[in-house]
Amino acid sequence: MTRRKRILVATGGGDCPGLNAVLRAIVKKATGQHNWEVLGSIDAFNGVLSEPMQLKVLDLAAVSGIHVRGGTIIGTTNRGGPFHWPVRRSDGTWGTEDRSDELIRRLQYQGIEAVINIGGDGSQRISQALFEKGLNIIGVPKTIDNDLSATDFTFGYQTAVEVATDAVDKLVTTAESHNRMMVLEVMGRDAGWIALAAAIAGGADIVLIPEIPYNIESVMRKIDDRFRSGRGFVIVVVAEGAKPAGGDVVATESDEFGYHNRMLGGVGRFFVGQVKQQMPEVEARVTVLGHLQRGGSPCAFDRILATQFGVAAVDLIKEQKYGFMVASDYPRIVALPLKEAIKSYHYVEHDHPLVHTARGLGICLGD
Ligand code: F6P
Repeated sequence: MTRRKRILVATGGGDCPGLNAVLRAIVKKATGQHNWEVLGSIDAFNGVLSEPMQLKVLDLAAVSGIHVRGGTIIGTTNRGGPFHWPVRRSDGTWGTEDRSDELIRRLQYQGIEAVINIGGDGSQRISQALFEKGLNIIGVPKTIDNDLSATDFTFGYQTAVEVATDAVDKLVTTAESHNRMMVLEVMGRDAGWIALAAAIAGGADIVLIPEIPYNIESVMRKIDDRFRSGRGFVIVVVAEGAKPAGGDVVATESDEFGYHNRMLGGVGRFFVGQVKQQMPEVEARVTVLGHLQRGGSPCAFDRILATQFGVAAVDLIKEQKYGFMVASDYPRIVALPLKEAIKSYHYVEHDHPLVHTARGLGICLGD
């Protein structure tokens, strides 16, 4: 009897609504249609590199109904990876070691013929490096920040925009009742897509994004206009990576388990401090939306896109088209060489149609 083809799937980086929908689609197509066996590596590639290995059999029963659930049933991590595996030195400090060759050997030993790696730009860099070492690998992009240039959209982004818009709607009612300035801090490390979309959808007055360092004087003019025009409240949406002109982002350095990371957060409060220095009479409150944007059920758009990506990734394995990443070129799902896909970042361009729309509404972008 011939052995069933065996493939492995991993989810890496920060979680994102829609990951489970990708897993379900992969299993439905690979197992339901091709009769392949699908294994999930627990916590990105850590599962393969653990002792003993932590692999989960993903059969039709395991993925039944999971497309509506947030998170990932196989876990994820944004620390380390096979090329920079964290190791504790004898003096207690952390270093890293390259375990990529061992990863490939372990996959061969398990009889795994192909791998689907679902993750953001960091994960897809790992995919490309593993492909260059000879691994049969396909990438599936994910990020709520929508900051990958190779694809029109990533799943998770629309869900995050819905959460942020809902928050703006709620803040409007309390802001107008109290005549306050309400500041909503949303995710967006280097790209302000979530902030910009939520500001337009929710009808904010000011939006501050990483791509346009803000001038506090022009922002204060807008605040002053709003209060003087009789509309006694102001709604500000600020991306966590926003910064004042000539200044830096607000961040704390984290070194959890040897994973050196700049954790962004606090720009909303910093911004209010700047305003209060010159306009102490303005009553202001800050809401940090944080990981609420990443949790919970994906919206229908994200479920559909995630499902399309999952099916397309299995199609690529069937065609033995390795070293590619699936992407959305609406309405088509296409495949791009991973090397191309990781080349550039998807910033909000200053002349993007959404920027034009925001300016057309009179939303202040801080410049
Ligand atoms: O990259 C997605 C993202 O949501 C960023 O916007 C944010 O800075 C980061 O993840 C937070 O990650 P963590 O889960 O490590 O706090």
